[in-house]
Amino acid sequence: MKKLIAGNWKMNGSLAANQTLVQAMLDGLQGVEPMAEMVLCAPSPYLAQLQALLAGSPIAWGSQDVSAQESGAFTGEISAMMLKDFACRYAIVGHSERRQYHAETDATVAAKAQRALAAGVTPIVCVGETLTERESGQTEAVVKRQLAAVIHAVTHCTSEIVVAYEPVWAIGTGKTATPEMAQAVHAVLRKQIAAATQHPERVKILYGGSMNAANAASLLAQPDIDGGLIGGASLKAADFLQIVASAQ
Ligand code: G3P
Repeated sequence: MKKLIAGNWKMNGSLAANQTLVQAMLDGLQGVEPMAEMVLCAPSPYLAQLQALLAGSPIAWGSQDVSAQESGAFTGEISAMMLKDFACRYAIVGHSERRQYHAETDATVAAKAQRALAAGVTPIVCVGETLTERESGQTEAVVKRQLAAVIHAVTHCTSEIVVAYEPVWAIGTGKTATPEMAQAVHAVLRKQIAAATQHPERVKILYGGSMNAANAASLLAQPDIDGGLIGGASLKAADFLQIVASAQ
């Protein structure tokens, strides 16, 4: 199974900057058989731009969030069906920045994952512990609780889902989990997925948190790390492509 390298641009970009960045990525992929599947998750206003720029290319596009509601009076929300209209293949749900700044609960994240799946959009479900939780020995319990909420909501589903382990203390800090630390948590998640889903082989588990061109190879070499969810380094074409090339 090919690994999946996902870029999360967060709230960065402009029409001009996106055009330059995507063009540089596509130029770098010319004549190359990519080592991994790729997706770029842009702020919502730029999804149509990504749809146009990436059509027919090996890079898929996705959103950074999706509404837990189907449609109606939910000002500012973006529904899974709207994402599907733009041929979005993926939607990140439950990113720690959404959990932290928008008070998203495990139940909200599960509802979002369900909406995405129902519309035919693959959710990238983020889980991860804070520094305090890690230091007090709660890492395993926290990620298992976060994942259980989603698994419980989608057990009937046979579609692909993606899980991303993103330790909160490693996001945007330059403090990457060591490959061993990440692998240990991924193994726990893998076991939980194997016990709870009908098709565990369809679930990729990505690592996210200061993954970059220099540390990607050692992280991606771990047996239970099926790819990466990349923030800062996905805003630089050369770094993103280097990470993709590391995904042997
Ligand atoms: O979703 C990606 C992420 O939160 C990691 O960000 O900048 O540490 O790679 P970064």
